[in-house]
Amino acid sequence: MNTQLIYLNPEQMNETELQKAVKILQEDQCIAIPTETVYGLAANALSELAIKRIFEAKGRPSDNPLIVHVSNMSMLKRCIHQDLSSRIMAIIDAFWPGPLTLVFKKSKLIPNEVSAHLETVGIRWPNHPIALALIETSGFPLAAPSANVSGRPSPTKAEHVLHDLSGKIAGIIMAEQSAVGVESTVLDVSGDDFRILRKGGVSLESLQHIDPAITYDDALAHPELTPKSPGQKYKHYAPSKPMLALSGNIESLVHHLQTMDLSQILLISTDEIINHLDVPYHLSLGSYHDHDLAMNRLFDCLRVSETLPVESIIITGFEDSGLGATLNDRISKASSQKLTII
Ligand code: TXA
Ligand code: MG
Repeated sequence: MNTQLIYLNPEQMNETELQKAVKILQEDQCIAIPTETVYGLAANALSELAIKRIFEAKGRPSDNPLIVHVSNMSMLKRCIHQDLSSRIMAIIDAFWPGPLTLVFKKSKLIPNEVSAHLETVGIRWPNHPIALALIETSGFPLAAPSANVSGRPSPTKAEHVLHDLSGKIAGIIMAEQSAVGVESTVLDVSGDDFRILRKGGVSLESLQHIDPAITYDDALAHPELTPKSPGQKYKHYAPSKPMLALSGNIESLVHHLQTMDLSQILLISTDEIINHLDVPYHLSLGSYHDHDLAMNRLFDCLRVSETLPVESIIITGFEDSGLGATLNDRISKASSQKLTII
């Protein structure tokens, strides 16, 4: 398949180019689009054919539901079969548009293929001018998983999408790097207990600031339980080389790494740690204390790691609170081995 590359500047969108993208969507084809979290592989959420094409292009297991992207409240209401309580509205007012997916009871409008035959549907109002313009102009909600081949790190740059999906999809919107850099937090609001099913761009603490009763779903803390978010059970983001994840505080990590022979190893770490070591191959996630920057860089670092002539990778984690918990989650899912240094 010939993949059309469409160049769009979010500040000054070229109408002809935008219409090319809308045409692809109207023809039930898939197109990769930028969002503030990661690039998404978008198609008409109301078309069974379009949904089938998303699953095929990604090689995605059919029991893993897709997130539906909307651009206004009336579109949301058509997709769900549930009242918007004041509790839910407080969360929507605080975090939408933004990196938060809410799981609702679904309406009949949403095909079963989108929700993988669950009774619920995950919905997100993204905070990106190009994504919003595409939803508004096409007039239907867009189903969009991350635009990577299943199992690969989510794409935060258009070039990552080109690498994974060129020739397999009808188009790619070539725009800038995703601002957030990790996927949305998935929060189940379909019952009385609001539970986080996937860690992401909004932290537990900032959600609790609006609604103190929100907690992580038990399966996030206990890997032996079956997760409510089907995507959580799959191996993710793994680079093709063995990767060891080290957790601990800065001092203990530096001490431990100083005892190792790092000559054939790539170290993905923070400035505070890298600066204390003599290590030929390293990629910096920024400062240990700057979670936003580390999220922005993480998936790109995992992809770059595959191009370097090293045998294996060591990556260091973050303090496990706020968005540090999201970083540690993605690092842990990408690693083949984990070690806590005390
Ligand atoms: O930031 C994001 O969320 C990106 C951008 C493109 O919006 N999308 C994304 O989609 O990460 P995907 O398909 O890669 O991950 C969606 C996650 C999966 O873990 C899936 O199992 C979960 O959301 N999910 C979707 N619908 C669900 C539902 N009804 N119930 C439980 N989990 C659901
Ligand atoms: Mg994904």
